[in-house]
Formats: sequence, C-alpha cells, structure tokens
Amino acid sequence: MIHRIRGVKDVLPDDISLWYTAEQAAHRLAQSYGFKEIRTPMFEDTSLFVRSIGGETDIVEKEMYTFPDRDGTSLTLRPEGTASVVRAFIENRLLNTPTSRKLYYIGPMFRHERPQAGRFRQFHQFGVESIGSPSPMIDIEVISLLWRFFSSLQIDGLALEVNSLGVSTERQQFKDALLGFLVPISANLCGNCQRRMHSNTLRVLDCKVPSCRTATAEVPTLSSFLSSSSSDHFQQVLEGLDLLNIPYVLNHRLVRGLDYYSRTTFEVTCHSLGAQNAIGAGGRYDGLLETLGGRPSPGVGFAIGLERVISVLPESVILPPTPLVYVAGFGQNGQQSGMCVLEALRANGIMADTDFQSSTLKTHLRSADRLGATLTIILGDDECQNGQAILRNMSSKQQEFLPIDAVPDTLKTRLSS
Ligand code: HAM
Repeated sequence: MIHRIRGVKDVLPDDISLWYTAEQAAHRLAQSYGFKEIRTPMFEDTSLFVRSIGGETDIVEKEMYTFPDRDGTSLTLRPEGTASVVRAFIENRLLNTPTSRKLYYIGPMFRHERPQAGRFRQFHQFGVESIGSPSPMIDIEVISLLWRFFSSLQIDGLALEVNSLGVSTERQQFKDALLGFLVPISANLCGNCQRRMHSNTLRVLDCKVPSCRTATAEVPTLSSFLSSSSSDHFQQVLEGLDLLNIPYVLNHRLVRGLDYYSRTTFEVTCHSLGAQNAIGAGGRYDGLLETLGGRPSPGVGFAIGLERVISVLPESVILPPTPLVYVAGFGQNGQQSGMCVLEALRANGIMADTDFQSSTLKTHLRSADRLGATLTIILGDDECQNGQAILRNMSSKQQEFLPIDAVPDTLKTRLSS
C-alpha cells in the first residue's frame, strides 16, 4: 500500500462541490473586474524564485521543492504564482496587449512547510496580478476584489490589515534604523530573529514570539521614513478603502515574507481559522518586472489560500449538486429504448446515468436511490409498446406518463426551472 505524501490532500467526490463553489466565485468575480485567466507551468527555473522572492526568505531558504532536471538545470515547483505570472508577462510581451495586463490564476502551489491544520505542502491559490499602473486606484481595485470574494461567499470574522513598505531607498533607511535599534537589544530576541536581523531585518517585526514582541515594542515605524509621495500614495489607498466601505486596520508590522513588495501591503485574517489564520494577502511590487529582466513596470496583486477558504465556507453558499436523471430500461425493448433515451438526455446537457447490471424495475430503482437520482425514467417493454415512458419523482414517488420522444425536452424545461 503506497500512501499519499505528508502535507498533501486528496479531494474526494463528496467535497468537490466546495471547490466548485470557491473556484466559480473566483472565475466570476475576477472576470467581472476585467481580469483574464492565465495558466503558467507548475515548475520553473529555480533562479526565477530566488531572484523574485529573495534568497534570504524562508520560502527560498527552506521551503522550495527544488530538483535537478536530467540535463542538470535546477527546477523548482512553484511556491507561489506572482513570479511565474510576471515571467510569463515579460516573456510574452503582454505589456503591448492592453487587454492582458490584468491577470488571474487558480492552481496548486508547493511549499515544504511543517504540515498542520490549514497548512499544506501542496495547496491552491486564487490570485490576481494587475501590471502596468502605479496608481493607488489599482491597489484599491485589487483589495476591493479580494474583499468582495470573501463577502460573496458570506465568509465573516475577517480582518484586513494594511501597511506601506515604501520604495527601496526608504526601506533601506528604515532597515538601517531598525538594525541600529535591534543590535543593542539582540540578547532579548529569539534565536531566529538574532540570525535574520542581519539578513532579513524587516522580518523581525512580524515575529510572533512574545519575548520578541516585548523587546521590539518601541521599535521605529516605517511610516516615519516614507517620502511625501509614498505617504500620499498610501493615504489615497486608505481613502479609497473608506470610500468603498472596506474596513481595515493599520499594521506597521505587516512586512510579508516575500522580498518583492514595495509600498502597499495587505493581509486578510479569518478568526475562525486557528493558528494558520491568513486567508489571503498581497501587495504592490513595483520593482519586480525590472528585477526579472522586463521593462520597468509597476504591479499589484494578491493570492488567497483556497483550502483555508473551503474550510470556512458556510453551508448556505455551497453550490447544490446537479440533479441526476436515472434511466431504468429493462426487458429486451426497454433496454434498447433506455439506451437511446440516456444518450438523448446526455446530448441535451442533462446529467443522466443508469446501472447496466440491473435488469428488473426493482433493482433499477434501488440503483437510482443509491446514485441519488432526482428523477427516474422507467422504460419496460410495455412502456415501449405504448410509446409512453414513466417519469418517477424519487422523493415524492409520484409517477406520470410522458411520450418517449418528448422526454429530453420535457426534462430540460423542468430541471432548468
Ligand atoms: P502568501 O502570503 O505567501 O502570498 O500566500 C497567500 C495565501 O496563500 C496565504 O494568505 C494563505 O492563505 C495561502 N497559503 C500560503 N501558504 C500556504 C500553505 N502552506 N498551506 C495552505 N495555504 C497557504 C503569496 O503567495 C503572494 N504571491 C501573493 C501576491 C500576489 N502578492 C502579490 N500578488
């Protein structure tokens, strides 16, 4: 017996309607905001992620599934979607196609993290990337889509946190000041922070270890290092959120675990999720295209963790299963006629099935119940001779006659109402 690998999940048929619900909401909403779907490969040249996410980040240092291809090229299973979308954007010159600057994706990502509730080694993200404009209006549009996704699925208990990381020169000045603050108090920091305060200084700010929190309570804030243009940009984002009635909390410690961010960053947490409570996050990455060899162009986006969304989906929004029509054809003529009706129903887009093992009405009705059919078409030799099938409602058990030829059209009308 070979088991599935630690940290991954099988999605079984009984749970698939949860996934359809979340994925359909993602497609519908992203498209209604003018985003077009993009599908990129699941593995890329490792250097794509090292250069974009940053060599000193947890993702690149510890969490990537990296392996040599047969020719020795280092490949990595994508740990997130932004880097691949930006690579595809540059490589396919999408900047020249005005209709392809707003992109969305749904698909699996891979990170070798310690598995726990809500944290997987293969997980799925719905993400969007809006490339080409530095305007704060785009940040607002992206956050509005993120927020609307959750509200359309009636997920509550959410908190949106926002921050601005400024541009790289402002961030560098802040990092220097932060390091100046941290060095004298380093004995009070956890081992991880003592190490990364030199390599990835900002991450010390979002360390959850209580002693680090206490030691850094009086830490300088990035907002005092922002230029007037970065401050104005952030102010306009906040005003836009106010205008659209999207509630937010300012969190000057929100630095994110990927190095490509600049200016606006945001994260949504869901209080019913437990320890892994980040349900979606994102921000601006104005330098990323240039870092990856493209023409300098700003960008902003987010990604939502679909496993986490699915775990908090309320029953009321889950898409109902498509009704199934069972065809019970028995007896020599009934079986043949049943086959034709089954074919005609399927050709009309109706979900229809039978059990070819059943040869009597009784066994057919048992199979219809087992498969969860809403309606059953009964076709024995008598029905064939009269040209009338019996339509049985499986829950009320009521039956009526229908001309065999009229079965597909009649059911199409009834099921659509
Ligand atoms: P991220 O914060 O690394 O950002 O991931 C976004 C979301 O993916 C998280 O908030 C969480 O819901 C989900 N997630 C992350 N890791 C796991 C895991 N191991 N198991 C289950 N869910 C997980 C990004 O990935 C950026 N690319 C977002 C972005 C897009 N920024 C700009 N554009």
